[in-house]
Amino acid sequence: MTRPKVLITRHMPEPVLDRANKSFDVILNPVDTPYAPDQMIAMSSQVDAIFACHSEVFTKSVVDALDPRVKIVACYSVGTDHCDLAAFVRRGIILTNTPDVLSDATAEIALLLMLGAARRAVEGDRMVRAGTWQSWAPFFMNGKEVTGGRLGIIGLGRIGQAMARNARGLNMEIHYHNRRRLTADQEQGAVFHDNLDSLLAVSDFLSLHCPASEKTKGLMNRARFSQLPDGAVFVNAARGSLVDEDALLEALQSGKLAAAGLDCFVNEPGGNPAFSAFDNIFMLPHIGSSTDRTRTNMGFRALDNLDAFFAGKPPKDCVTS
Ligand code: DGY
Repeated sequence: MTRPKVLITRHMPEPVLDRANKSFDVILNPVDTPYAPDQMIAMSSQVDAIFACHSEVFTKSVVDALDPRVKIVACYSVGTDHCDLAAFVRRGIILTNTPDVLSDATAEIALLLMLGAARRAVEGDRMVRAGTWQSWAPFFMNGKEVTGGRLGIIGLGRIGQAMARNARGLNMEIHYHNRRRLTADQEQGAVFHDNLDSLLAVSDFLSLHCPASEKTKGLMNRARFSQLPDGAVFVNAARGSLVDEDALLEALQSGKLAAAGLDCFVNEPGGNPAFSAFDNIFMLPHIGSSTDRTRTNMGFRALDNLDAFFAGKPPKDCVTS
């Protein structure tokens, strides 16, 4: 029997490639740069499946132009905001993602952002490197203490729950807003808010863990930042599109927010150049899932989905059904 042909769009950890080569005829992108839409479309006539990264964008026009030979796109990401889901459904092309395996790594980064922002990591690091650290004083570099604080989480899904677990280690009081209330077992004592207004009012620290969609675009806008307690710390390790970045800057400038920790930006790669002037923004280049272990497990999860599909079974992580 001929083996399915799979295009892998970016360089992958060795164990992922080894496993892929055992099950499929693999076409590898020779260079580790994202395929442009026309390249992806051109390559699609050669393969039955595409193993794609968050760096490739599947707009409606790309999905519409994919060769009919392509039956499944297995994303190497939990987020599928780079894909037009409706176009996939219309074309009958299965789309899968990689949940669970990156929750802990991403929640680690959210915790780092919260701590780094609250305890002024950017200023401190810069000062020591520059050799300008010359004194100690009672008010020297005082930040906002995280331990025992109130943390608001928007989206208590897998990553949000992992963040809540981390925060419990700091004895934080967890509040959350979700589309629906979780079970007591999942909540682990977290306080449910059925609306954002009441959640924001108690969020001395606020961390976003909800998916990006048309509905959540610009979720954190001027009005919502103004509902936070004065001096709150804002964390985003989810997606840049959830935030109105001008409103975020205003909230930092006015002192409404003490600090922000950001791993995600409206424009990626690159970020927002206006943020660089703010020492109270602790920034990372979208590295939530960037650990060797997690990146390997994401690859395995994408391959699990391809294996299931080509064995005639429903892939576990189908997002188009
Ligand atoms: C994810 O898996 O969605 C990551 O944010 C992409 O790198």
